Amino acid sequence: MSYSFQIKDAAGYQSAYKKSVSDPEGFWGDVASSFYWRKKWDKVLDWNFKEPNIKWFVNGKLNITENCLDRHLGTLGNRPAIIWEPNDPEEHHRVITYRDLYNKVSQFANVLKNNGVKKGDRVCIYMGMIPELAIAVLACARIGAIHSVVFGGFSAQSIADRLYDANAEYIITCDGAFRGNKDIPLKSVIDDALVGCRFVKKVIVATRTRTPVSMLKGRDVWWEDEIKKVETMGNPDCPAEEMDAEDPLFILYTSGSTGKPKGVVHSCAGYMVYTTYSFVNVFQYQPGDIHFCTADIGWITGHSYIVYGPLAAGATTLMFEGVPTWPDAGRFWDIIDKYKVNILYTAPTAIRSLMGFGLGPVQGHDLSSLKVLGTVGEPINEEAWHWYDEHIGKKRCPIVDTWWQTETGGVLISNMAGITPGKPAHATLPLPGVQPVLVDEKGVELEGNGVSGNLCIKHPWPSILRTTYGDHERCRVNYFATYENMYFTGDGALRDEEGNYRITGRVDDVLNVSGHRIGTAEVENAINMHAGVVESAVVGYPHDIKGQGIYAYVVFGQMHGDEALTRQDILQTVTRVIGPIAKPDKIQFVSGLPKTRSGKIMRRILRKVAEGETENLGDTSTLLDPGVVEEIKNGKI
Ligand code: WT7
Repeated sequence: MSYSFQIKDAAGYQSAYKKSVSDPEGFWGDVASSFYWRKKWDKVLDWNFKEPNIKWFVNGKLNITENCLDRHLGTLGNRPAIIWEPNDPEEHHRVITYRDLYNKVSQFANVLKNNGVKKGDRVCIYMGMIPELAIAVLACARIGAIHSVVFGGFSAQSIADRLYDANAEYIITCDGAFRGNKDIPLKSVIDDALVGCRFVKKVIVATRTRTPVSMLKGRDVWWEDEIKKVETMGNPDCPAEEMDAEDPLFILYTSGSTGKPKGVVHSCAGYMVYTTYSFVNVFQYQPGDIHFCTADIGWITGHSYIVYGPLAAGATTLMFEGVPTWPDAGRFWDIIDKYKVNILYTAPTAIRSLMGFGLGPVQGHDLSSLKVLGTVGEPINEEAWHWYDEHIGKKRCPIVDTWWQTETGGVLISNMAGITPGKPAHATLPLPGVQPVLVDEKGVELEGNGVSGNLCIKHPWPSILRTTYGDHERCRVNYFATYENMYFTGDGALRDEEGNYRITGRVDDVLNVSGHRIGTAEVENAINMHAGVVESAVVGYPHDIKGQGIYAYVVFGQMHGDEALTRQDILQTVTRVIGPIAKPDKIQFVSGLPKTRSGKIMRRILRKVAEGETENLGDTSTLLDPGVVEEIKNGKI
């Protein structure tokens, strides 16, 4: 497969960028023409950011799975679509060709239909990283059901909240999942989540760990049994549902500055066009390359750059079930050597954690197949960038530092491997089609280079979020109301003298822990669920490996046991309410929080103390009780 929209050199980047700004509709119309449409669009774009109301490829008809599967069968049918590496290196890996994947997706799509799933229904997917997860996602897309993948680390309570919010009546899960030396009982977590969710009609359970599970009669069915049923029905195909360009493809929940996660909605056509376009251009994918994105499909990175982008491009995507440090810290390097991986896309957190093991685990592995390295999810510090460059890329591989968000669907700002230059700790330049701007507090655009401000985007791109599920007003207020006629990212950034962007981090109350977004309000709500807690305030602090760590100040009522035990109880509560990813790294018990006379918590002070700053805390004169600041400083952990 060749890609008409692949940019080939720096001049090509410049001219594509210019065209994308002067004639966005012409630009995206050309890109979209290389996909398979049941019916072509009438108009490329219709939009306003006021409501917002954004429509790409108006009245176009398609199915994304025909683009990811059917159209490749003639040319790539016997080529590997997915290479699956299990958690345990002793277990056999799997290679799934495009033909196999087409068959499996069709079969499982028929299973979904047999179980009553229809176009527009929401299906929650809570699985480990096995090929059946990708198959489940694609099978939903095949029949037009809206998938909502929930990362396997979230708790029963988090799943229940998401099921309610989306009114999801169907669930696809596994008995359990392997992750390093752990065996996570996914079905049992689902059972806990469903105690209060009577509206769930069917739970389809795939076998992976053989952990004992309880199957509720009439509601729970085994994946394998259901496949047997459709096999005996004869026709193995499942015709793809014809979808409107703007029909929702999936919901993915992400944290914001309030306590309740938002269901970000992406639509069929725009998401397909942009993920494929960005995949091919950022990584400079060449036919035959093996692409290894180490994310979990439970996050947007996995949706866009393990499943949809690579498959629509006819690429070979490597899916890894395990973790970077088990059985040892050479796991990634083993995999690269074993499959001759060409593109490695991972998170700065993983790089920093692997750096900590020294060069021993890297040595003895042949990494010469690597051509392109990528990072995503958080700012990469220069030390980690150089380690990645020297010891993994051996100074031969461009590193793409890709900035984007769950809401953007695909990479918006990044260098393009070998086409535009990288710069340590900088995401660099926008992709053609993306128009970033920096604004000051008042929303005034900051022109020229060498400035810093809040990062906004002033024109839509095809994979921009369309709404937040069930609450369009929330979408408007969150992203489109802060600054008029702009999408506000929630990030701060600076633009250097050459026009390169450097993302400096969130400017709202959202933390980025190991590349995962966590709202401080969400963690506070979880901590406050503990019976003994009066109130709490959560802030981030710099963490060597995670990027940001979670620091919680907790006002506790009556301390019965010792502090250490109470801390454990609070951690347990957070694990129950959200999941282990939201557990605070530090808990400091305080007798009160620094509040203004109007009752607002002065987080600035808490942040400074957590960062280790005790001298310049700024103006504390408006505090109700300046005395608590002394106590907080003295009790710092
Ligand atoms: C937030 C989005 C994008 C998929 C994974 C995270 C931060 C993301 C970078 C980068 C600096 C980055 C931003 C953004 N972020 N990529 N290359 N450099 N910061 O998706 O959970 O939606 O989080 O991650 O703060 O807003 P997400």
